[in-house]
Amino acid sequence: MVSQKGDETMRRTLVIFKPDAVNRSLIGRILTRFEEKGLKIVGMKMERLNVYKLKQHYEHLTNKPFFEELLDYMSSIPCILAVIEGKDAVAVVRRLAGETCGRDASPGTIRGDFSMSTQTNLIHASENDEVAKYEIDRFFKPEEMFSYDKMNFNWIYCRSEKGMYTEIKDKGKSVEEIEHAKKKMMEMEQKKEQ
Ligand code: TYD
Repeated sequence: MVSQKGDETMRRTLVIFKPDAVNRSLIGRILTRFEEKGLKIVGMKMERLNVYKLKQHYEHLTNKPFFEELLDYMSSIPCILAVIEGKDAVAVVRRLAGETCGRDASPGTIRGDFSMSTQTNLIHASENDEVAKYEIDRFFKPEEMFSYDKMNFNWIYCRSEKGMYTEIKDKGKSVEEIEHAKKKMMEMEQKKEQ
């Protein structure tokens, strides 16, 4: 089996389960959606978000009329924060979340199924890879996140989707050597699965 640790094809995103998700006892159901999709939880905690961090987090909305109300709501009770990992995790989680306004969000999405509001829309999900990095750094210390192998990994991604060549590349081999090693690894994987 190919190690998942240090797999450079994986991406991480920040998800905040907002106060309405906590209050409406929807944490478990929402988390299940991420787990069932095949995403990996690599960090998780409960935190009452302070206004200082929230002002940074929602800086792009500073001039909006709903800004103060948003800060009040987001700091009203603790949130659950999670770092979620997977291939294209940022985009995948955004699609699972659905449109900002729950009333407009498609059925099948988290907001589409459980929310009727633009503000109490259950979860925050990072917008893109760059933003995800800032947001994860804002809310999580490195030691609060984990790299670990998951048993179902081989059934979540196909061989060519797995970052199986990381270790070889790290050894500074030539492209030809990497290609050769790639082929060998695929053959070995194939044999193991037979
Ligand atoms: P935004 O970044 O536009 O959406 P998204 O969460 O889908 O990335 O807005 C951030 C949050 O601001 C949104 O989740 C809820 C809140 N918000 C309001 O309270 N009222 C509004 O009219 C909008 C557009 C957003």
